[in-house]
Amino acid sequence: MNTPASYFDHQYAHAADPWHLSERWYDRRKYNITVAALPRPRYLRAFEPGCSVGVLTRLLAAHCAGLLSTDRIPSAVEAATQRTANLDHVTVRQMTVPEQWPEGSFDLIVLSELLYYFDSTARTRLIEQSVGSLEEGCHLVTVHWNHPVAEHTCTGRDIAEHLDTVPELKRLARYDDSDFTLTVHEHNGDAAPVLSPARAEGLA
Ligand SMILES: C[S@@+](CC[C@H](N)C(=O)[O-])C[C@H]1O[C@@H](n2cnc3c(N)ncnc32)[C@H](O)[C@@H]1O
Repeated sequence: MNTPASYFDHQYAHAADPWHLSERWYDRRKYNITVAALPRPRYLRAFEPGCSVGVLTRLLAAHCAGLLSTDRIPSAVEAATQRTANLDHVTVRQMTVPEQWPEGSFDLIVLSELLYYFDSTARTRLIEQSVGSLEEGCHLVTVHWNHPVAEHTCTGRDIAEHLDTVPELKRLARYDDSDFTLTVHEHNGDAAPVLSPARAEGLA
């Protein structure tokens, strides 16, 4: 079963930033690792569903010519909009995935602390939607908590293993610690050799 909408309504009814994303070193460090793991310095059009109050959004924005960030909760959308108000290339919208999904294609999709709120059917659909919206040679980055939480259907490690079974995705990188797992995959349906950052700059 998906984590019910009422859980998120309840979280935001009691706190503007329910997970304290703008306060803790744990999150700052994780966001820095996430951005450092991006294979390219710059993306043309990125998508970040489940953006909450927009802390990671601001960091991603520095690497994107265009960034669409969305959340299901209006107050989170409002906070992320305010946090990115001086960034004209960032658009924040209310959107509930997977029922709603943006038009067009992206060269980067970031699913950070989101996929474990879905049962395996919805999670598979979300991954399929992500793959369907990614252009060939472009990147899917996922980051998820590894400790058990009542509202989570799986851990970051489970998600990493799932992604490795998706035929269109080739894993470029994986970071594990006891707290979270981060993955970087490239959409690579033609099984062309993937370009590591060093190969992309002719170093290897
Ligand atoms: C734990 S927070 C993670 C925020 C951010 N991605 C990060 O890593 O800092 C999860 C966010 O996902 C949003 N969310 C949960 N289910 C969603 C859905 N079906 N569609 C859109 N947003 C959703 C919640 O409202 C919440 O703001």
